[in-house]
Order: sequence, then C-alpha cells, then structure tokens
Amino acid sequence: MIKREIAPGVWSIVVNDWNRRLFDSLIPLPDGTSYNAYLIRGREKSVLIDASDAAKVPEFLSALEGESPVDFVIGQHVEQDHAGAIPAVLERFPKAILLCTPKAKGMFEDHLHIPADRIRTVADGETIALGGRTLCFLHTPWVHWPETMCTWVGEDRILFTCDFFGSHLATTDAEASDECRVYEAAKRYYAEIMMPFRGQIRNHLDRLAGLPIGRIAPSHGPLYTRPGFILAAYRDWVSETCKNIAVVPYVSMHGSTDRMIARLVSRLAERQVTVYPFDLPVTDLGKLAESLVDAATVVFGVPTVLAGPHPAAAYAALLANALRPKIRYAGLVGSYGWATRIGDQMKGLLGNLKVEFLEPVLVRGCPRAEDLDSVSRLADQIADRHAHL
Ligand code: FEO
Repeated sequence: MIKREIAPGVWSIVVNDWNRRLFDSLIPLPDGTSYNAYLIRGREKSVLIDASDAAKVPEFLSALEGESPVDFVIGQHVEQDHAGAIPAVLERFPKAILLCTPKAKGMFEDHLHIPADRIRTVADGETIALGGRTLCFLHTPWVHWPETMCTWVGEDRILFTCDFFGSHLATTDAEASDECRVYEAAKRYYAEIMMPFRGQIRNHLDRLAGLPIGRIAPSHGPLYTRPGFILAAYRDWVSETCKNIAVVPYVSMHGSTDRMIARLVSRLAERQVTVYPFDLPVTDLGKLAESLVDAATVVFGVPTVLAGPHPAAAYAALLANALRPKIRYAGLVGSYGWATRIGDQMKGLLGNLKVEFLEPVLVRGCPRAEDLDSVSRLADQIADRHAHL
C-alpha cells in the first residue's frame, strides 16, 4: 500500500496487485493492476473515494489506521475491485454513509450486501461541502457499468474517475510520467471494457470539456497530471475515424488456413495496409482487443471443425462482437475438410458489428494457386476500401 498526499488534505491510497494476471476470469493483466482510493479531509467533513478489491482488505485498511473517522464513503462504481473493501470500511467507521448514484444503491445492496440505511443517493450535479472544498458528483453512466459516476473537486481541480481513463498498471509511479507505457495500458483498458460504450463516452467527454481539469485521478493506474494527454487519446478512440489497419485473428490446424493468412498479410502489406495478425491459440486477447480500437477491417482465418468454425475463432468473434469496435469491413478466409457452414455461422456471431461483410474465401483442402489468388483479390478489395476511409 502506498499513501501519498497529492494535494493539501488529499491523499491517494494505492494498493498494487503486482501478480494478478487475469481480470473477470477473462482479461489478461500483463502488468498487474492497482486499486486506487482517495482520502479527502475538509475542515468539517472527510470522505473516502472508492476502496480496493476485497482480496486486499487488510492492506487497504492499514492506510486508514490512526485516521480520524470518515463521514462519507463515495462509491463511484459497484464492481468489486473498488467496492469489495467498502463493507469493511463501513464496519470500521460505523457512522459513515455510502454516497452513490440512485442506480448504484440497489447494486450495492445486491452485490455487497450493504444495508440500505447506510446508503444515501446523490443526484447528478449534487454537491457536498467538506469545509474549504466542495465535491460535485457527475453521473457518468456506462463507464463501464450503468451506475458509474465521477467526482469533481473544483478547489483542487481534480477529477476522480474510477475506471474512466484508468489503466491496468501496477506501478510505484504516482503520475503517468511514462506516457507511452500508460497510453498503451489505457488504450488496452479502454478496448477491454469501455469500447462498447463509445457513444456515451463521447457525451461524457463533451461535458468534461467544460471543467478546468488540472488532474485526473483514476482508480486504476497512475494519475494524469497532464490530463490533455488522456482526454485527447479518448477523443481519438471514441471518434468515428478508422485507420488503415486490418486485424487478422486466425487459427490453423494443418497449415492450410495458415497459407491463406500468409498470402493475405503479405498482399495487404504490399498494398500499404497495416496488418495485425493474431495466431489465436497463442494470442494475448487484450492485445487483440486493443488492435480493434482503430482498425477499419477485421478478417478472420477460420478452419472448419465438425462443419462449424474452429472454437478458438468462434471465441474471438464472440469477443469482437461484444466489444463493438468501429470496424467497417469484415472478411473470412479458411480451409475446410469436406463441407462447411461457417460463412453464415461466423456472420451470425458478429451481429453487433455494423460492417460490410466481404465475400468469404473458403477452400476445400489445401489451397491451390487459384485459391491464393482469391485471397489476394480479397486483400485488394480491402486496400481499395481503405483508400477512401
Ligand atoms: Fe475497475 Fe469496473 O472495475
């Protein structure tokens, strides 16, 4: 646990989870993660913003040892990596009240069994005065659950954002000084949980543009002392602009689909399309998700297994469909043994994507020269479309 005073009377409490390698039993965490909370003391009242994962309760509570009681715990988000320690905090400070959005109240009751009489809801734009500083609650639903909110402290020009703008990075750095590293981690994080809500995030960014933000304090990863950096990155990610990038998730059983993918990648590259191929059995799904943020095209390389798509490819399609990237074109190549139905099945798995489906190239057996020529023609179609992005 690292406790730092980031402004007079404002402390960050950072619990690093260096060895966590999976989130939601789904998302790889190559750099671990951190759970950040913030303790703010005014002249009359004190608040704690967010907490930590339930697995880190003793470590988190040690940050509050010797502290005088907090009056309010602000639950910006119900998910257990931040709220898991809130029941222990409320037990530690029996007079403290949990403040949250109306949507979050029932969720705190259901997910963490917090008694209703310990919860008070706050309206969008509502303020509480601590003495010397005032907190303003900004409802920001769908970053990335429906109940999420941010907290603005105008006197310090700090915006507390929980998951919004966060990054899965365990680090001893207080601030995002290595912006390249934080950019990658934040983009990956955006891809994994925020991307499906691009429209809502655009609205939130418009609203935040009216605030003179000096610092952004997320509940994962380092603080942003140059908030323009992450705000501009988010603006780019949520925009409708696609880049000249083709993402190619693929799997091959006996090398036939592999040959088709090799032709596709080389032809696209010859046509100046940037390609990110992902051999699915050895792929970091977080990298795959991140690559989808900007790409204009996704082409799945899919062998047929028992008349259907190879499960690794079906899983990747399911994931891409759930993440709803701003992809414009989708393609399919692959080999099958004797018969296949994967064309319609893969299309069905991608129903959320507003894309033009290009003519699939599905080959019985090992691809011949003319089959590879068909793959080249698919690459040419993609390059031609990308010329007009
Ligand atoms: Fe970091 Fe949605 O919890």
